[in-house]
Formats: sequence, C-alpha cells, structure tokens
Amino acid sequence: MSAPHTGSTATIPAGTATVPYPDTPDADWWRQAAVYQIYPRSFADANGDGIGDLRGVISRIDYLKELGIDAVWLSPFYPSALADGGYDVADYRDIDPRIGTLEEFDEMVAALHGAGLKIVVDIVPNHTSDLHAWFREALASPRGSSARGRYIFRDGKGEHGELPPNGWASIFGGPAWERVTEPDGTPGQWYLHLFAKEQPDLNWDRRDVRDDFLATLRFWSDRGADGFRIDVAHGLTKNMDPAFDALRTVIDGLDTFEDGQHPIWDRDEVHEVYAEWRTVFNEYAPPRTAVAEAWVEAHRLARYASPDGLGQAFNFDLLEADFDAAQFRRIIADNLALATRAGSSTTWVFSNHDVTRHATRYGLPPAASARPGDMLVGGPDKAWLLRGGDPAEVDIARGLRRARAATLLMLALPGSAYLYQGEELGLPEVGQIPAADRQDPTFFRTHGAEIGRDGCRVPLPWEPTGTSLGFGPYGSHLPQPTWFADYAAGPQAADPTSTLSFYRRALALRHELQGAEHLHWQDAAADVLHFTRPGGWHVVTNFGTTPVDLPEGEVLLASAPLAGGCLPGETTAWIRV
Ligand code: GLC
Ligand code: CA
Repeated sequence: MSAPHTGSTATIPAGTATVPYPDTPDADWWRQAAVYQIYPRSFADANGDGIGDLRGVISRIDYLKELGIDAVWLSPFYPSALADGGYDVADYRDIDPRIGTLEEFDEMVAALHGAGLKIVVDIVPNHTSDLHAWFREALASPRGSSARGRYIFRDGKGEHGELPPNGWASIFGGPAWERVTEPDGTPGQWYLHLFAKEQPDLNWDRRDVRDDFLATLRFWSDRGADGFRIDVAHGLTKNMDPAFDALRTVIDGLDTFEDGQHPIWDRDEVHEVYAEWRTVFNEYAPPRTAVAEAWVEAHRLARYASPDGLGQAFNFDLLEADFDAAQFRRIIADNLALATRAGSSTTWVFSNHDVTRHATRYGLPPAASARPGDMLVGGPDKAWLLRGGDPAEVDIARGLRRARAATLLMLALPGSAYLYQGEELGLPEVGQIPAADRQDPTFFRTHGAEIGRDGCRVPLPWEPTGTSLGFGPYGSHLPQPTWFADYAAGPQAADPTSTLSFYRRALALRHELQGAEHLHWQDAAADVLHFTRPGGWHVVTNFGTTPVDLPEGEVLLASAPLAGGCLPGETTAWIRV
C-alpha cells in the first residue's frame, strides 16, 4: 500500500508512462459531469480478435473528446471467464489479457487525462468470480475453514446434504445455491450466489475481505482513476440467519421487511463499509469519487449518496418511467430534493449495459415499472424480446424522436448525466441474436424465459462497411445486424442533422450553460414540461403530439426541427431568454 497522496504527481506509480495528473482544485468535477459508459468488450477492437480492448479505447479518445463528455466510466476490464460479461472478476487488480495490460491502462489514463477527461472504474464487491484465487482456495479447503469463511458456505438439507440450504432463487434464475465437490471428491457443501453460479457472494463480515477492497481502491486510485462505480452497492453485507430461509427468491420480501432489515439488500451496516472507503477516497487530491448502483427505494438512496459514504448514487427512475410529462416532473422534483438532502447531486440515466436501449423502449407502448431490486427492467421491451425482437414491431422513428427529446431534457437537468456507448448514434436494441451467439447468463439460467442484455452490448458500428463495421479489423464477438451500418459514427460525424451531431452540440452547450444546481418550474400545459436554469436557460419538452408555443428568445438547440416557431410533439428545445 502506498502513502496517502497530497500532490498531483505523487499519484503516479514509478515506472509508468503516465503524464502528471492535472493539478485541479476542482474536487466537485463529478457533481454535474456528463459521464460516458464504455462497455470495453464492445467499444473498439484494436487487435482484431473480435473483442474490444484498451488500445481500442485509446484509438477513440479524439472521438470521446469531440463528443464533449467530462468522464468515461469503463465497465469491468478485469480477468474474467465472462460468465457475466466481466462482472465475474477473477482478479481485481489486473486487466484481462484479451482486453489489455496494466501498462496500456496507464497509457489510456494518461491519454484521457491529456484530453481533459476523467476516468471512472467499475468495482464489483458483492461477489467474485469462481476463478478468483480466494474461491479456488475455499474449494481446496475443508468445511469450516477460514478460506471458506470468505464466502457464504452452508451444509445442504436432506439426509446427505443433497438439497440446497434453502429455496432461494437467484436474480438470474435458477437456485441461488450451488453444491461443491469436497477436496476428497465427495459431494459437499453449498455456496450462495445471488447472481450466476460463477459469482459466489463474498462474506463482508470478514476483515480480510474488507481490507482487500481497500487495497483495490488504492491500487486504481494510484494508477489515476478519478472515481468508481460501485456494482450492486446495496448488496455486500448479509444476515444469513435461518429465520430468513422462508424467502422464495433473493429479492423476495423487499417490500415487507423493515427498512434496513432485509437479510440481503440495503442493510444499514453496508454503510460502515462505505465509510471506510470514503477515508480512502479522501486520501487523494482531489478526493476520488464514487457512484452507487443501488436499486433501493428512493428514500434509502441518500445514505449511499452521503458525503461520508460513496458520495453519489444512480437513480434509475427516468429509465423506468414512461415518456410522460407527469412522471418525468415528479421524478425530477423528487430526486433533486433527495440529492439536496443527501448533500450530493443526483444522476440521470436512460440507457446502460443492463437495459433495452431507450431508442427502442420509446418505440414500444408504455412500460410497466420494475420493482426495486429488479436488476433488469421489465415491461413491453422484455415481451418484445421474447416475441423475437423483430425491429419491424418497433416504431423506430418515434423511438428515436422521443429518445432525443428525453436526452435533451436530461442534459439540461442539474446533476450528472450518464450516457451509454452508442446512444449518441441513436442505436436501437438488437432484438434478434441467434441463441448460439447469446452470452448473457440470464438467458441460459432461465432457459430462454429471459432474453437478457446482449442486445445493448453489440459492438458499435464505427463505419458503414467492413467485416465488423469499423469495430475492429475482423469480426465482432456478438453479431451486428446489417442495419447497424445505417447508424455508423463516421457518416454521422459529417452530417449536421445526425444524432451524433445533435449529442455533440448538446454536450458543448451544456458546458457553456450548466451553472448553479437550481431548476425552476414554469407554468405549462399538461403534456409539457418547462423549466429554467440560471442564466436565462429555458428548457421546454412537449411530451404530447400537438405543437405548442415556445417562449420568446434565442433557440439554442432542438431535438427535432421546429414547426414554424412552434415546438412540435415529442420534442425538446433549449432557449436563451
Ligand atoms: C450489476 C451490473 C450487471 C451485473 C450485476 C452482477 O447490476 O450492472 O451487469 O450483471 O451487477 O454483477
Ligand atoms: Ca481485441
């Protein structure tokens, strides 16, 4: 472990090629940042093995810079058997050889920082991969051993322990327990996995588990990571009292348990873990930041977002909402109030690597909202995927029109905005992927009852031609449909009316306009939201279909062409008054 850092260059480990970290007094950079999520395996492939890599990211830094984002969040790049797209981490302090090397990571960080962009690293603390050294050690060690104690092992029920310790089902389908073979070859104990069986849950009562994650946070902070995205932040600590064995699934009972007392999720004591993490973050200048992925009730989010804890939390409310003025208004008002109470800023997001892309969701009839704790958003997009995911069933034009309107509204809100790779191209979900090509464990564990998340993880189309549309020199690890060519970044960059040009303009303007974290609602018709930000910045979204009048002023940007000075349906405009 290295000493606490105070200066800007002290964070660079000896022997790496990184340039000094810019000496910024701006400890608040994250509060209103636009953060672009890269799913590394599907972003850009430099060496042509069909899998995106760090060299690919490095090759696209100009693109990121021109897009106008403030930070990049990279989904896991760690060594992994890819049982869950890399969220099964075999070594938290290394890079998957298929993705790159630590030296390339340093080079990427230097290049991002050189371009004025921050980097956010994904930390997966609830579970490791079953290939992690600790789990291999646990399997090789006897029941009751200290090595097993780092995970959650139990004896099975039944005469010979042949039945799982309880009936819990995993989030990804199937039982939440897997039986192991003991070192002597006999059938043995069972271990808990809330997700895939290749993702054994850690025991967060263990001091060595806690210490190891502190070491990991320092490791990446020392290498220049500016912040962390915390996977399943509402997991980690558990109460394995047999009294809870009656639950049916690992998300059962979320509504009935007293706050903070569900055996698995959102337990009060998880914040002791994050208080320790905060002391590590604050060893650095500027302090490292963190954002919690916590699927909890809105009133519970503040604890994760507290300055004594992780500092910020995702709110998935807009992502779960219909394209509806009243829902948007309530969500925006509630979350701004909650963030203020937490002493934080809020986050907004419409798409990520876990959900159907919003250009497609908005082209389907309204969605039923998911229940808290559901990792994967339910609703008509799931039904559409199950019907075969035919693009002909989606109103693509309407979906994109609404997506652009929603995004322009989001980019005008106080707080940080999270963008998912490809949404700046207007990419729809890929619904049609042959079963043999699918990768998401939810598809396999549910025997196809869930289609899963591969459709938003298809490698990006950079060019309209080429074997993988410019993703790399050869293939693509998930098949790209032929219509992906129509969304290629290259031609869009040259077309001022493209979705890419629209995102660039919006992000550039956001930089100019984003000021104090205030928002004031203005009177508007039922289908319309109208708010102002400091500096005469008016934002009007017409959720309906009839054109409405705009306030007098200079139209800075609109998500669709205006209709003779009026704001057409399903359109957002930014106006300076
Ligand atoms: C988070 C990730 C998701 C992953 C799960 C288990 O929800 O976003 O992709 O499958 O955690 O790690
Ligand atoms: Ca590659």
